[in-house]
Amino acid sequence: MSKITIAIDGYSSTGKSTVARQLAKALDYIYVDSGAMYRAITLFALQNDLIGKEQEGVDKAGLISLLPGIRLEFRKNHETGKADIWLNGENVEQDIRKMEVSSFVSMVSALPEVRKKLVEQQRLLGKDKGVVMDGRDIGTVVFPDAELKLFMTASPKIRATRRYKELLEKGETITYEEVLQNVESRDLADSTRKDSPLIKADDAVEIDNSDMGEKEQFERILNHARNLI
Ligand code: C5P
Repeated sequence: MSKITIAIDGYSSTGKSTVARQLAKALDYIYVDSGAMYRAITLFALQNDLIGKEQEGVDKAGLISLLPGIRLEFRKNHETGKADIWLNGENVEQDIRKMEVSSFVSMVSALPEVRKKLVEQQRLLGKDKGVVMDGRDIGTVVFPDAELKLFMTASPKIRATRRYKELLEKGETITYEEVLQNVESRDLADSTRKDSPLIKADDAVEIDNSDMGEKEQFERILNHARNLI
């Protein structure tokens, strides 16, 4: 059986990672969460005072000068069975999901130098195919030749509700309005940035899952994949 590359792009909280994980498991492929990489760089910038409340945004020159020393890896977590992201030898899987990181990640991910570093690493991770990668530019920039490209959407309110529930379960103190605002502002920033904006690739299959159950969505997508393998 030949191995293919599956690129899943779309707006925030459209369930990309859930379906990507399910697909990777069903096909025995690796799953790469590219958003985790942008989040880890953002966490690094926060930890190193390169994003400050007093500063307007990110200290771009400072972050760019430290980029070569930032090491990102995915390592299997034997308790959850999932791959966690490690930043310079430390497991940061939990920390990168916090709202503080979500608030700044779109600013950091708009920097071409950051994108260049991460796209290189993403291409290496997928060089042997047999990969499901989700993000914003996977089908357009990282793997423009991917055999299967999906573009996921859902209404902003449905997405914010899903994300709000997840954050509450993780114990964050947050309001629904804050989450909705973050989802909408990230989508706008991600879709309008100059370098690698979030857009649907011409050959991507669009999936609006506003009214679709997880199981139905997975089966539809798995069918698409099986037809190509
Ligand atoms: O996928 P997730 O919502 O965790 O991604 C966090 C942020 O990382 C996005 O809002 C976007 O700014 C950035 N991102 C990106 N390109 C990717 C994946 C994520 O710019 N391929």
